Amino acid sequence: MTVHDYKRRKFLQYAAFGTIAAALPGFVLAEGGQINSVPSAAFRPDVEMEITARVAEVPIMPGAHTSVFKYYGKLLKGPKAALTTMPGYLGPMLNLVQGQKVRIFFYNQLPEPSVIHWHGMHMPQKADGHPMYAVQRGERIVYEFEVKNPAGTNWYHSHTHEMTATQVYRGLAGLITITDEQEQKLGLPSGEFDIPITIQDRRFTTSNQLQYIHGMRERMMGFLGDTILVNGQANSVIPVKTRAYRLRVFNGSNSRIYKLGWEDGTPLIAIGTDGGLLEKPETYPYIMLAPAERVELWVDFSGRKPGSDLVLRSLEHHGTMPHMGGGMRHGMGMMSGGLPQGEAFPIVKFHIAKKVGDSPKLPETLVRMRSLTEQDISNPDRPVPIAISMQHMALQLNGRSFEMHEVMDIERIPVNTIQKIRIFNDHGSMGGGMGGMRGGGGMGMMMSMAHPIHLHGQQFKILSRTLKDQDSGDGYATVRDGFIGSGWKDTVLVMPGEEVEIIKPFEDYTGLFLYHCHNLEHEDMGMMRNFYVS
Ligand code: C2O
Ligand code: CU
Ligand code: CU
Repeated sequence: MTVHDYKRRKFLQYAAFGTIAAALPGFVLAEGGQINSVPSAAFRPDVEMEITARVAEVPIMPGAHTSVFKYYGKLLKGPKAALTTMPGYLGPMLNLVQGQKVRIFFYNQLPEPSVIHWHGMHMPQKADGHPMYAVQRGERIVYEFEVKNPAGTNWYHSHTHEMTATQVYRGLAGLITITDEQEQKLGLPSGEFDIPITIQDRRFTTSNQLQYIHGMRERMMGFLGDTILVNGQANSVIPVKTRAYRLRVFNGSNSRIYKLGWEDGTPLIAIGTDGGLLEKPETYPYIMLAPAERVELWVDFSGRKPGSDLVLRSLEHHGTMPHMGGGMRHGMGMMSGGLPQGEAFPIVKFHIAKKVGDSPKLPETLVRMRSLTEQDISNPDRPVPIAISMQHMALQLNGRSFEMHEVMDIERIPVNTIQKIRIFNDHGSMGGGMGGMRGGGGMGMMMSMAHPIHLHGQQFKILSRTLKDQDSGDGYATVRDGFIGSGWKDTVLVMPGEEVEIIKPFEDYTGLFLYHCHNLEHEDMGMMRNFYVS
């Protein structure tokens, strides 16, 4: 079968889905495409702030400062606690309360266009930071929204067309915490006992400057750095007391996947996922954390000896990268600066610095969640497909690369419905059979690797995960016990050979909402599409 035949067959297959793309009606773009640069008089904000992105020189490594892109925040109105400054290139942490009305002026002072997206938050289209809203240097965007999400940990980052990976890599990201009444009643560790752990990998030159991708092959796999930063700092050590802590662990890396585990084998206690707190604490031997995902951990240092350490590590795992021959694998190792995907390494060291008397107890139950079941789904027999494919350098979802304003029929979602969505690696009829990655190691043909798939808008629940292709079983066995199935999610890691079914509400807001791979190199290469909710 020739490549042409293959493309033709693909085309027919997707045509059968009814997936021919069409531009959206003109009025949608006329009305929705305008950039909001003026605050609305009718909107009464409880919190108002400025965020400015600009080039900065910050200390990260010992010695010379590093040139980065950084978000700076300034509170104009609202509680002082709404903004916390963070070290290194990290943007300020925004601390919001459910129900607050928030206005944010974003000023772009970078030498390139930019736009901010509020990842994980349920937003109107106009506030969601779609790449069509990117502004040039010297211009601004005004975001106005109400905080609808429950208590949890979200984040914000650049979402600029074909520049998301480089802009986030250079520093354009920050955390958002949200609190609500339910959470406050729980008395979880707070203040100095509530610690954000933003994990990112970077690569530095000998003069401490950030180094990015070398060439196309590396781009196809995604950037992997050899230096692990926690909260913007290398070799991170966090002093703690002998009591319980809440850790908001966030993977802010472009493409590295972490398998979190305590060095001494202590199980992990999860209390929250991407979209907020769980119904009750859950125990895991290890937890997988793909790019953009968050997990909230409860860790109790009571009973540990002052002077001792506990290290959070990433454990060895397999199967997230394409299968390839020895020569190629060697090449990949070099490309990733000696720290390939799946290798083990320390992330952050907690140093038990001080003995204290008492500690809060882990609550038996946490929050009540809205229940979403099969009964609520409006398309039980016709799940919306998200078919992931990588071939001939084309990174696609449902057979197409990103188009700014276009949607296919299957990407039209009726507003105020709850949809079943099926996400899977699409090998078409070729499987691995053409063997492009074998032997010669060409990059052209079909490849299968893990993809963290993210959907904008409301958080979803995972209905099922099924390993369809038993060939992927060996690698899968090293990750499968680390997926949290019970919590609200906005990003889900789909392993090679795996099919994941989710259930997601599309309520309140109409317009264009993105879905994409959050391996940021993949996103920029086109592994992104729009849903049009109407
Ligand atoms: Cu983290 Cu389209 O987003
Ligand atoms: Cu998002
Ligand atoms: Cu991907």
